[in-house]
Amino acid sequence: SAMAEERPLAAVTCTAPVNIAVIKYWGKRDNDLILPINSSLSVTLHQDQLKTTTTAAASRDFAEDRLWLNGEEADVGHPRLQACLREVRRLARKRRGGSAEDAAPLSLSYKIHIATENNFPTAAGLASSAAGYACLVSALARLYGVEGELSEVARRGSGSACRSMLGGFVQWERGQRPDGRDSLAHQVAPETHWPELRVLVLVVSGEKKPVGSTAGMQTSVDTSPLLKHRAEAVVPERLALMTRHIRERDFEGFGQLTMQDSNQFHATCLDTFPPIFYLNDLSRHIIALAHRFNAHHGRTKVAYTFDAGPNAVIFTLADTVAEFVEVVRRSFPPAANGDQ
Ligand code: DP6
Repeated sequence: SAMAEERPLAAVTCTAPVNIAVIKYWGKRDNDLILPINSSLSVTLHQDQLKTTTTAAASRDFAEDRLWLNGEEADVGHPRLQACLREVRRLARKRRGGSAEDAAPLSLSYKIHIATENNFPTAAGLASSAAGYACLVSALARLYGVEGELSEVARRGSGSACRSMLGGFVQWERGQRPDGRDSLAHQVAPETHWPELRVLVLVVSGEKKPVGSTAGMQTSVDTSPLLKHRAEAVVPERLALMTRHIRERDFEGFGQLTMQDSNQFHATCLDTFPPIFYLNDLSRHIIALAHRFNAHHGRTKVAYTFDAGPNAVIFTLADTVAEFVEVVRRSFPPAANGDQ
């Protein structure tokens, strides 16, 4: 309409998935560029259950940049959000400089409005920043017509976000360069590779974690000799091994290494000074239950992993889901925890 021509508004909506690391990222060598001390590897979850949806709009009529998180207005000045915005605009400028094909490009000087929502409780601590920043960067890139390598931009929002830019099994390369140009995410195997793989999320607590990942890993880098050893000597071997287990769809190998790596990550938290505790008694009960379940079957049929919080993520295969869910229900009957 004439109205629209006079008041141009462009808007795009994207969705992005959550990812769960099986070889954990913990520790930065550059805090501003978000460059890790070790490579990491994750599984991207299906968006049917958990996803972030973000709409980004630009208009000449917007007086200022604004942001809404789950319906509530939030601070648009967050340095990491600003870094993502700056990087996408820089790529857009670079692209436009090279060609005259887009006759009327969306002005890079228009203010933007961003609205983002999770279809799961943010408080549950389920890697919401990973899906959130992956989604933000995708939406901004589409808005400005930027294509190509975007994991580098998502990384500037949150390290783990770069892995949510791809589906399936994803490795985030540590990289060597000080400018971070080689610290990117790439697919180890596509989402179609292992159709029987399932993920269960056991929500132990909906409370916000006392020590966030960013602050926690900084203290670990500063104080934990175990973390240094892990990054230098343990992770490189484990990445090669994990990649092989994934390629061969070897659930026992995959599951054992997933549990070992989660346990070592939490050991580095204990080795941090002052120590950080993310697991609680219920988390440890779930760990014991998984090992008892596997011992009963004489092989690894379920594997747990925990991030910077007490909630358990369980990997298993389709044929084991019903039985394990039943075992969890019996072990943690609703009545015993106040019907929560
Ligand atoms: C334990 O990506 O949240 O989930 O880069 O500071 O934003 P920042 O940290 P973040 O850390 C995630 C840590 C982890 C392990 C992982 O996802 O690899």
